[in-house]
Amino acid sequence: MARRKKIYEGKAKTLYEGPEPGTIVQYFKDDATAFNAEKHAVIEGKGVLNNILSEFFMLGLGQIGVPTHFLKRLNMREQLVRSCEIIPLEIIVRNYAAGTICKRLGIDEGTQLPRPVVEYCYKDDALGDPLVTEEHIAAFGWASQQDMDDILSLALRVNDFMSGVMLAVGIRLVDFKIEIGRIYDGDFQRLVVADEISPDSCRLWDIKTGQKLDKDVFRRDLGSLTDAYTEVARRLGVMPNNPPAPGKPTLVN
Ligand code: C5P
Repeated sequence: MARRKKIYEGKAKTLYEGPEPGTIVQYFKDDATAFNAEKHAVIEGKGVLNNILSEFFMLGLGQIGVPTHFLKRLNMREQLVRSCEIIPLEIIVRNYAAGTICKRLGIDEGTQLPRPVVEYCYKDDALGDPLVTEEHIAAFGWASQQDMDDILSLALRVNDFMSGVMLAVGIRLVDFKIEIGRIYDGDFQRLVVADEISPDSCRLWDIKTGQKLDKDVFRRDLGSLTDAYTEVARRLGVMPNNPPAPGKPTLVN
């Protein structure tokens, strides 16, 4: 089989040229990073679980009419997606306080927010993905006002969908991050949900016990990340056929 051309290697995924023009293969790695890659480990099976969970969420979003870049899963670690131009923003939606909002605003972890709070961060690892305002986004031309209206609407639809899906299996969607891509169809552009949606990019707490089932397990050394992600996949009924043996993470640095 001809070797595929690598386009980009990120912290958790590698992108390869797809078989057709306008397509890309996303390969999910087992690498886990936190604190802007200061903490890094390889956790066997994480990539498989994220590939399958992201497929599940993206397909569900497609079914309710939220456009995504997802085309199809190719195998346990790879999915075919539409190539798009990623808007350099991380869009964060919060339902309950956790993580950086607690530090920034002095809110207790777990406090229910009066309404979903949407935040934007500028995607730049060297700067640590700083929080930005719509004023920065407009001034530096990262997205137009029309884009921002569409992004807000997409983010809130993803929030409603994900909150409902998780609630149905006894899990609270605390917050999540999405990325949005532009796809050009002739003279027209449309925005789609891109990248991935997985326990790497969401905070998921068991509703009854508060147990964390997301990347905070790795960030805060709370136990086995594979066990946590496997539990999410199991509850959603999307466990891979050969579940990864829960192994100890190999600490890289
Ligand atoms: O760290 P913070 O509290 O701002 O994160 C909010 C949400 O966005 C969390 O679910 C986190 O996993 C996600 N996030 C992410 N990638 C980043 C920053 C945050 O997936 N670079």
